[in-house]
Amino acid sequence: MSAADGTFARTTITAALPYTNGPIHIGHLAGVYVPADIYSRYLRLRGREVLFVCGSDEHGVAIPMKAAKEGITPKALIDKYDGVIRESFEAFGIAFDNYSRTSAPIHHQTASEFFTRLYEQGDFQEQVTDQLYDPEAGQFLADRFVVGTCPKCGHKEAYGDQCENCGSSLNATDLIHPRSAISGAEPVLKQTRHWFLPLDRYEDFLREWILEGHKQDWKPNVYGQCKSWIDEGLKPRAVTRDLEWGIPVPLKGAEGKVLYVWFDAPIGYISSTKEWAEREGTDWEVWWKDPGTRLLHFIGKDNIVFHCIIFPSMLRAHGDYVLPDNVPANEFLNLEGQKLSTSKNWAVWLHEYLIDFPDMQDVLRYALTANAPETKDNDFTWKDFQARNNSELVAIFGNFINRVVVLTDKYVDGAVPKHGQLTANDTETLAAMRAFPEKIADSLERFRFREGSQELLNLARLGNKYLADEEPWKVVKDDPDRAATILYVGLQVAAALAVLCRPFLPFTADKLAGILNLKGLAQPLGWESLPDRDGLLPSGHRIGQSELLFRKIEDAEIEAQLEKLEATKKKNEMENTPVTPQKETIQYDDFVKLDMRVGTILEAEKMPKADKLIVMKVDTGIDKRTIVSGIAQHFTPEELIGKQVTVLVNLAPRPLRGVESQGMILLAEDADGKLVFLKPEEAMGNGSVIS
Ligand code: MF3
Ligand code: ZN
Repeated sequence: MSAADGTFARTTITAALPYTNGPIHIGHLAGVYVPADIYSRYLRLRGREVLFVCGSDEHGVAIPMKAAKEGITPKALIDKYDGVIRESFEAFGIAFDNYSRTSAPIHHQTASEFFTRLYEQGDFQEQVTDQLYDPEAGQFLADRFVVGTCPKCGHKEAYGDQCENCGSSLNATDLIHPRSAISGAEPVLKQTRHWFLPLDRYEDFLREWILEGHKQDWKPNVYGQCKSWIDEGLKPRAVTRDLEWGIPVPLKGAEGKVLYVWFDAPIGYISSTKEWAEREGTDWEVWWKDPGTRLLHFIGKDNIVFHCIIFPSMLRAHGDYVLPDNVPANEFLNLEGQKLSTSKNWAVWLHEYLIDFPDMQDVLRYALTANAPETKDNDFTWKDFQARNNSELVAIFGNFINRVVVLTDKYVDGAVPKHGQLTANDTETLAAMRAFPEKIADSLERFRFREGSQELLNLARLGNKYLADEEPWKVVKDDPDRAATILYVGLQVAAALAVLCRPFLPFTADKLAGILNLKGLAQPLGWESLPDRDGLLPSGHRIGQSELLFRKIEDAEIEAQLEKLEATKKKNEMENTPVTPQKETIQYDDFVKLDMRVGTILEAEKMPKADKLIVMKVDTGIDKRTIVSGIAQHFTPEELIGKQVTVLVNLAPRPLRGVESQGMILLAEDADGKLVFLKPEEAMGNGSVIS
């Protein structure tokens, strides 16, 4: 156990509060929730005191925007996604002690009090600044609520904070022809008063606490980001906003203003703790204020500045709270080489995964851990997912357990046998097994979850190799006693796996505990007891029913997932195809001049010496006439014959290569030049009028 952990009496673990503007996907799980869950399960297994809290992040301008898009109220939106997200966490075994919501009254109260305390201590600066204001809607506009032309690339629909076309980050005041996303009116500048946290005042404290104090134990990606923020010089940050949705600023004269979402959200960790303590009838404060408490924030890399600079400055300003001891932030997970994106639907959604792979939560937990973006961005691929399952979980872990259990049933009547004289290989295998708790602990204490997961697999490898070397299925014929000893050793390794896999694979751990009947042990097996307990499973202990831990994933299942992504890609491409600009406005009278009829192509042949033209005879219902069309490179004459089409019949005849074309056949063309005939949805009589 690391020195850092050993000096603390208890650990408060927080996982970033997810925004309730959409469901959660594998990126969230890999970056934040699975590592946080592994770590808290691990500490609990070691008998440490742990509190693991989270909740929904339900404020901020993104919520009313998304609600407007879905055509529902912000309240309906947060209720919907809070529900979806809770279900996903529950399903994947993310074992929070409490999952709260920032819309909860206890949070509104806690955040208001926190603000008031800082306000009364004189920790804020009041500033009046010019902000964009929608004169028609009568409200201030967050940057996201202003749209206009990007000054960098000319994209007409850039947002006030960012142009999604060229990726530039913008200020709303940079936009050319800015307009309000609410009313379309041109915004004006209007003065408004806000409260700022003067981060510059905390620079010395942050420098000493992080740059000097945590150089060794914070991950390099986290430390590096903090250093560059601090070295660049910190500026005061507004902690209030002109917005309807959020926690009202608890001051007179601040009507229409709310706390900035990044001010209230991290306080949500505290409110979640209070909610838990109230329910449990215990004290919350010790988990936040006692110097014997170790505070850990699990987050993704886009949250680093908020958890390492801003929230600690708030906690420090308040004065009563401990500071985070570590912030093991992860980098990002990509999917099949592309950035995960909620708006582009480029994601594996947890609720959809569960439909396609029911009861296979541990497989995803394992694949995401084995390939976690711990030190750099990483890629999730379905092929890797399949390989992690088939060649690691099935072929190594599952196979080892299955062999031990089946052989135990077959040769020694389903009970742990007595062992005879141990060979060198037996003793070495048992000694190697006893070293694993420490190895895995060492990885986890350093937040190296990938490494820990691979050590776990190495333990299964050890067992597999032992069986392959000793071949009890052969030995049993001549020497049943020796075979029993081999199974005794194999069963000890299986028992160690059952304990050590629990942080990573909680569902599998339950199954395996059932298979080995761990409940039937007189002395329960724990992490601490593995290294020094002689028989983890004593001779005579009856094991339970055999059951497969993992199943193979077939190629077809992976292909189905890849096809799903391919379809998403196509859809996104189509949505992004540039549209041909609209032609100038015409009057209704202009439109009714067109006489369009349903017709049928009777004959078609290529025009000699013209590679683009096809000459057709078309039944228009009025007559049978000749029409020449430049479609020879798209269709063969044979496929045209018999087709029902739309004909513009009153187009003035015009000669094409000496043949008079008497009308025009209508086609749709996309940006890639693909042509498709326009025809009625159901067959109609020739001559039917289109209007
Ligand atoms: N909702 C934020 C995000 O998804 C994370 C908030 S973490 C907080 O990026 F706890 F500080 F709220
Ligand atoms: Zn742009």
